[in-house]
Amino acid sequence: MMPNKNHRLETRSIFAGYDPAENFGAVKPPIHLASTFIFPDARTGAAQMETAYGIEGAETPPEDAFIYSRLGNPTLSVAEKRLATWDDTDLAAFFSSGMAAISTALMAHTSKDKALWYVGPLYGGTQHIIDDIIPKIGVDVVKLNSLEDLDSMNGAPGMIYMETPANPTLQVHDISLATKWAKEHSTEEDKIIVAVDNTFLGPIIQRPLDLGADLNLYSATKYIGGHSDVVAGAVSGKEEAMAKVFEYRTFFGGMADPWTSWLLARSMETLHVRVDRQVESARKVLDYLQTQNNLKIFSAWEEDLAKVGDYKSAAIVQKQQKNGGALMAIEIPGGRNAAFAFLDSLDVFKLAVSLGSTESLAEHPASMTHAGVSPEEKERAGITEGLVRLSIGLENSDDLIADIEKALEVARLSLKEETSKCLS
Ligand SMILES: Cc1ncc(COP(=O)(O)O)c(C=O)c1O
Repeated sequence: MMPNKNHRLETRSIFAGYDPAENFGAVKPPIHLASTFIFPDARTGAAQMETAYGIEGAETPPEDAFIYSRLGNPTLSVAEKRLATWDDTDLAAFFSSGMAAISTALMAHTSKDKALWYVGPLYGGTQHIIDDIIPKIGVDVVKLNSLEDLDSMNGAPGMIYMETPANPTLQVHDISLATKWAKEHSTEEDKIIVAVDNTFLGPIIQRPLDLGADLNLYSATKYIGGHSDVVAGAVSGKEEAMAKVFEYRTFFGGMADPWTSWLLARSMETLHVRVDRQVESARKVLDYLQTQNNLKIFSAWEEDLAKVGDYKSAAIVQKQQKNGGALMAIEIPGGRNAAFAFLDSLDVFKLAVSLGSTESLAEHPASMTHAGVSPEEKERAGITEGLVRLSIGLENSDDLIADIEKALEVARLSLKEETSKCLS
């Protein structure tokens, strides 16, 4: 059975991109390791190559014809059709890492005439490209304090870039505020591209393209891969914005390899089941955390934001997210020593960077994922020494809560000991 537009996303995504009838009835796709593909004849080969290079007057090549695996590969194509199905859009491109996806999208849609405007905080790798690499090729980079500043800006950029919720404090940005502004300020020749890094939620919870964004970016290492066994990235969107992304991927050569593509295609079959369960457990963990005194909670859930009086963020979440996702951060009283005591006492949670996997992970942003961020920027973004980020996996939620409870107790004792040492 091939996907049918009348079927719902979960049904379509399982079958997308692969027809068993063309593969001996094999229920799962093979891994095509070939680097090159034999042309049926020279005329067809020329049509394929000339079309790939965008040469005017090229003959139309056959559909789904492959040339060379840097440009496209059947296994990569299965994964890409599945992601395009999940994101309900024209095209998706997989890359060898989230950073390959982000850097290619940035290079494709900014230049010396097309500025980049962005709102932070951003993942450290993205911030590095924006601060240290893009300006060297002449791109004007402007940091906005908030998307609300768009109305006071002069001119227009080539791209508006954001990450929502942002790493690691789960700060949210209003996607449709940017997409409406971009639509009003775009012209026929100069379309402003709105790009959203949707790594923290993924297609099941947040759908930037439905809100008018042009490019939806992911570190597919996280929820899309979902098992901490693959490093990959993705960009999805409508054909107009994706054409340049594919062109730049072809020449930079950052595509995902066939084995990675196969793992991604397989992982996407269970994406919704994994994410729904992770979210269910995350809510239980957050409910437990809310019972703890002296614990500052960072969450992208509407109810948690409303509880601390952040009604503006709560309204954004309500508008653009299905729920608050399975990531959170807590600020442990007692700074780095208490945070390290907490992390070293965890048993079910594993102490590692990354997120979105089957196993729950915990890390210390100030010294790990965000070690390279300047002290001023850390302070501005709320990345304190006591902050710990938690990614909820598929373990039993009671075991996760018991693990946190035990580790919080150890952290409290370490703070008490330190305080009494200072007093004595
Ligand atoms: C929000 C976000 N974007 C992008 C990346 C980069 O992805 P990758 O590590 O797959 O290159 C990460 C990595 O942690 C991330 O958290």
